[in-house]
Amino acid sequence: MKVLVTGGLGYIGSHTCVELLNGDHDVIVVDNLYNSTIDVKDRIEKITSKNITFYQEDVCNAKAIDKIFRENKIDAVIHFAAYKAVGESVKLPIMYYENNLLSTLNICKVMLKHGCNNLVFSSSATVYGLPKSLPIKEDFPLSTTNPYGTTKLVNEQILTDICKANENFKCIILRYFNPIGAHKSCLLGENPKGIPNNLMPYIMRVASNNLKNTNAKNEAYSKLKVFGNDYNTPDGTGVRDYIHVVDLAKGHLKAIEHFDKLKGINFYNLGTGKGYSVLDLVNTYEKVNNVNVPYEIVKRRPGDIDACYADASKAYNELGWKAEYDIEDMCRDSYLYQQKYIKDHGDV
Ligand code: NAD
Ligand code: WQD
Repeated sequence: MKVLVTGGLGYIGSHTCVELLNGDHDVIVVDNLYNSTIDVKDRIEKITSKNITFYQEDVCNAKAIDKIFRENKIDAVIHFAAYKAVGESVKLPIMYYENNLLSTLNICKVMLKHGCNNLVFSSSATVYGLPKSLPIKEDFPLSTTNPYGTTKLVNEQILTDICKANENFKCIILRYFNPIGAHKSCLLGENPKGIPNNLMPYIMRVASNNLKNTNAKNEAYSKLKVFGNDYNTPDGTGVRDYIHVVDLAKGHLKAIEHFDKLKGINFYNLGTGKGYSVLDLVNTYEKVNNVNVPYEIVKRRPGDIDACYADASKAYNELGWKAEYDIEDMCRDSYLYQQKYIKDHGDV
């Protein structure tokens, strides 16, 4: 298939491009480089020894997207492009609603105009809000606690309505749990700008800071702050379903290869089905990488829930997909990617 990947130079998009190319699909990427860099294109091509067609454009620009469709006969779109920082979305809701909703509306409008009927959309476990029980199934009630999450929920509703109104239009909504890890080549991974909000990037920074000699140390990364140890979980710290980004990427490949068997709108959880606590992740990271991650317990982060993990059986039964990497692989690959990054760039 000829697949248009929006946000294809980002963290999950870049790993997905590799899997698509390895699966012999043609890849066209559109990314405005808001949260990525152009060298990721070269890295994808280096890993796969294949070329991608790249457009540096904003997905919210309908004319630019229309031009891409005129220049290429696109069979399917995987729509990753979005802003994704929960805390930032609370401060800048307009920016989040504008980018995350307009981009989808534009993509769908242009797809319908050009008779392209296959869309995969990046959603998130955040749409389950406080789940009624665990593990989480796709038909659980949906709710959100922040504008970012609401953009995902509203996108899901928009896509449901578009599928209802256009009988040939098919949409696969993938709800990701907590993606971490990196490509085994160490050429692709996640290295957020500034102080990370998410747990794994913060663990990585604390571990590498701890390896530095005293003068080079950064106070911001002297210790991991563990947000609460009084949750209703085995060790009191928050439990999440961490999934290796390469497994997640492979889920997209399975999705586009199943359009023939599907109709209308389809929802799938992409997770491992296993929950690990903050301290499980810290301890595993220390053990497999032989490093120290000093931490302190601080108060809860507002909006966090006790535990969240997937029932991913629907993706297995219908798409033939299941996660293969375990938590040790995720910790090892994150670490190796960061060490290579530090070697190449001098620091994180
Ligand atoms: P990312 O920020 O690394 O990648 C997103 C890419 O989209 C970036 O390269 C950015 O430059 C680009 N982009 C953003 N707005 C754009 C626009 N208007 N036009 C063109 N390009 C644009 O994020 P990611 O972690 O790879 O996430 C990909 C998708 O998965 C997002 O939709 C995100 O909401 C969703 N998601 C991510 C997570 C996670 O924890 N990383 C979890 C659940 C869902
Ligand atoms: C995991 C656990 C924290 C940082 C977020 C988004 C979600 C999705 C994935 C996009 C929690 C604890 C964290 C730290 C800590 N993204 N923690 N110290 O909150 O499950 O999900 O990313 O769709 O929408 O909300 O992930 O990595 O931030 O937190 O103790 O410095 O680690 O309390 O229990 P989260 P996270």
